[in-house]
Amino acid sequence: MEKITALKLSEFKRQGRKITALTAYDAPFARLMERAGVDVILVGDSVGMAVHGRPDTLSVTMEEMVIHARAVAGAVKTPLVVVDMPFMSFQVSKEKAVENAGRLIKETGAQAVKLEGGDKYSATIRAIVDAGIPVMGHVGLTPQSVHQLGGYKVQGKQSESARKVLSDAHAVEKAGAFSVVIEAVPADLGAAVTQSLKIPTIGIGAGPDCDGQILVLHDLLGLSDGPHPRFVKMYANFAEQAVEAFKSYRDEVQSGAFPAQENTYGARGEGALRVVGKKKE
Ligand code: KIV
Repeated sequence: MEKITALKLSEFKRQGRKITALTAYDAPFARLMERAGVDVILVGDSVGMAVHGRPDTLSVTMEEMVIHARAVAGAVKTPLVVVDMPFMSFQVSKEKAVENAGRLIKETGAQAVKLEGGDKYSATIRAIVDAGIPVMGHVGLTPQSVHQLGGYKVQGKQSESARKVLSDAHAVEKAGAFSVVIEAVPADLGAAVTQSLKIPTIGIGAGPDCDGQILVLHDLLGLSDGPHPRFVKMYANFAEQAVEAFKSYRDEVQSGAFPAQENTYGARGEGALRVVGKKKE
């Protein structure tokens, strides 16, 4: 399969071919996504909530992003791997943002970074792009601003806030981003932004007319606790399957059914004794 690049996503938009994106935080799931033909794997800062069980994404560190992104990028060849810039890794100054974006690329092998925010961060996006690093924008509901937004609320419902989402998306495009995530906005706004941009939009709760869609892995597999936002669709119920598997294991250990003969090394014979003997030497 041909490598998906940042440039290729624009080609997909021109062809009207929808882009599929998912978050992943480790090698096994990244590999499965590659096998399934997912185009973009985002190592999102949602790792803080999905994997580390925290209440929000604000405490996620650069070190954590490096560890998870290295696992993902090292595991796949075809999908485009994008890493989120965590809270306070790009907000302080352009210089610090370029340094941190560079670190994410150099230390992980990912091919692009994502950062939250529109107009306010256009100079920062430009600086990172000028350093040769592809940037994905993120507008609408930006979870790193949860306290400023007063919660995880749908954005762009009123005309002034809809205009802000649209102008943020345009600022991100003008600054040189190769695509933009639009989160939690009414479907007609998602469609309007998508139509008015040249770069592809990746929606999460932004309606069916975006150029692509993204979901958080743990939501899609039914591994995250509810209540879920309306945009989440559970494609499997791994939590139930996992609990059933854990219960069967517990029951079999307690009854002695596990380990069975096929899970057990042969009776102590010559071979086993030789191993024991070797250890003693
Ligand atoms: O961190 C994340 O997973 C994200 C997606 C929800 C787009 O930003």
